[in-house]
Amino acid sequence: MSHQIILDCDPGHDDAIALLLALGNPDIELVAVTTVGGNAALDQVTRNALAVLTMAGATEVPIAAGCGRPLLRPIEVAADVHGDSGLDGVVLPQPTVRLDPRHGVDLIIDTVLAAAPKTITLVPTGPLTNIALAIRKEPRIVDRVAEVVLMGGGVHVGNWSAVAEFNVKTDPEAARIVFETAWPVTMVGLDVTHQALATDAVAERVKALGTPLAEFVLGLFAFFRQAYRDAQGFDFPPVHDPVAVARVIDPSIVGTVRVPITVETVGEQTLGMTVADFRRAAPPDCHTQAALTLAADRFWDLVIDAIDRLGKARDHA
Ligand code: BDR
Ligand code: CA
Repeated sequence: MSHQIILDCDPGHDDAIALLLALGNPDIELVAVTTVGGNAALDQVTRNALAVLTMAGATEVPIAAGCGRPLLRPIEVAADVHGDSGLDGVVLPQPTVRLDPRHGVDLIIDTVLAAAPKTITLVPTGPLTNIALAIRKEPRIVDRVAEVVLMGGGVHVGNWSAVAEFNVKTDPEAARIVFETAWPVTMVGLDVTHQALATDAVAERVKALGTPLAEFVLGLFAFFRQAYRDAQGFDFPPVHDPVAVARVIDPSIVGTVRVPITVETVGEQTLGMTVADFRRAAPPDCHTQAALTLAADRFWDLVIDAIDRLGKARDHA
């Protein structure tokens, strides 16, 4: 079954892999890409997204630039894990994909309203600014979206503070709007993405594909590995964002539990924490769920298969 998704992203090494998974998997139809300031400034991440689409030969996917900063706070980029450009460590092609002149928020709204109800899944892999603004600008999207499967947050873990994850902490007010809106939200957080490690064995499998696209992915892994070693003490980098796409492709790869989740927006030590209330069984109207388990081997099978397909298609283009 094909799933139509809008990927709202801030590439970002792992966002780039999420784009490649979405483009290379036969069960996903990437109907739009929107960008948001996050890992780097908006013009950088937009250029990166255009370059990755170009690299993948995806010239027909509408792509628009969204918000350049969080709703209430100044932008806080993640140069220590992605470099100043957001995609340091690889040579990007000159983009041949054209940017849609619409604002990203409008592209999201137009795409959702033009589609049949409950057919589009939103997959945000950056700060949630565009999604929150889209809800406020056009509340009718809430009932029309099939679900929101976002990379962000976590139940027992943080990376941008002891208890908060980067995408949520960067724009906690936007995240709060998205989590508290009554639509199905799946939080694919650090509990699972810290298991999606690009190990040597994974890199070997990518290398064996032998395409220029595979080499590009290896370049992404190499930079990300060193950055995660230096910044967060990981042996191998957690490739967060494609886990959300994998959850849409095959929900059995990412195990979830229904639990009420909200976002801390005022805490001195806990700003941006995703607060999951496990004290009792989730009430029947609970619309949020948290991802807690990952079948990492099957996840990497999906990613490597997508890189292979795209790489071969490029070779034959
Ligand atoms: C998230 O933060 C970003 O740096 C990554 O692209 C990912 O979306 C992980 O916390
Ligand atoms: Ca991201």
